Amino acid sequence: MSHSPRFLAPFEQGLLDVPKGNLLVIRAPDAMGLSDFPNVTVEQSFAPVFNRFENTGIDVTPRAEGRFAMVMVNLTRSRPENLCNIARACEMSDGVVLVNGAKTDGIESLLKQVRKETTVEVISKAHGKVFWFDATPMPEAWLEAGKLAENQAGYLTAPGMFSHEKIDSGSALLAPYLGGLKGRVADLGAGWGWLAAQAIGPEVEELVLFEAEQKALDAARQNLDDPRVQFVWADVLSLPKTPPFDAVISNPPFHQGRAAEPELGVGFIQAAAKILKPKGRFLMVANRQLPYEHALDAAFRKWEILAQTGGFKIFGASLPKR
Ligand SMILES: C[S@@+](CC[C@H](N)C(=O)[O-])C[C@H]1O[C@@H](n2cnc3c(N)ncnc32)[C@H](O)[C@@H]1O
Repeated sequence: MSHSPRFLAPFEQGLLDVPKGNLLVIRAPDAMGLSDFPNVTVEQSFAPVFNRFENTGIDVTPRAEGRFAMVMVNLTRSRPENLCNIARACEMSDGVVLVNGAKTDGIESLLKQVRKETTVEVISKAHGKVFWFDATPMPEAWLEAGKLAENQAGYLTAPGMFSHEKIDSGSALLAPYLGGLKGRVADLGAGWGWLAAQAIGPEVEELVLFEAEQKALDAARQNLDDPRVQFVWADVLSLPKTPPFDAVISNPPFHQGRAAEPELGVGFIQAAAKILKPKGRFLMVANRQLPYEHALDAAFRKWEILAQTGGFKIFGASLPKR
């Protein structure tokens, strides 16, 4: 069995020619064999992956525009986002559109849906499929599915963003602890901005939202219309140098794939300690079963559990260790 990336199968089997013009790859998770292609642009709005591409020399942009000889869509876990990306791919491709994904990302039901619109060729490989077809206009509803819309809480969000339909229960539990914040405040992993909006009381002078997903940050920009707020598209695990903060708040991510990855939260705790003033305070919510106590011990001289409820813990920490 071949171990080359799934999307290369149609090229390896002589069913598709490597395009002479530019190949656009939407949501490439990594370099995934793209070095075999002479002319590639990657669209990736998630900062950690974007940053890795910048170091490979492959052209990368958070949002692609224009025309391409071929467009490949890599699936995310959000079906509306995938439909939107397939429809966008059809708008931008002068030739073929390829769709590449695992069964667990819903490739089979997407294939059925695309088959209702056009003729498709398919290869099954590595617990997933790659399918391709000549670019053709897809239903307007697919494009609409990925766009910003007001959610139940009255905030603009889009599918694919964390808890896009409603306020996250962990964030809701942290919110009552944010009253009275003063000075310079940071929100690490700010998403579409609900938690940050709860933190911006009268004594806050500046509120900086750090978020890796540019689409979510753009939504937050529209949700928080206040001159004291700044928006930084960044990987919190490798933050740019910043003046120190009086308070840091966070509902950190706990996975990027399907499995829990507590080291992400550990990285957020370390980042918070690094950017706080010596007398600054860190407030965080986390899933109750995630083991953050050692990381808090290592990063702060003082911390406490402020509440344990509904499957979450609220932590307060101060005196960051240097
Ligand atoms: C649990 S969500 C919290 C979102 C928001 N604060 C809320 O309460 O609704 C975590 C957020 O961290 C973002 N994120 C994930 N990895 C990140 C990283 N390495 N750097 C910065 N943000 C990241 C995710 O995109 C997501 O928006």
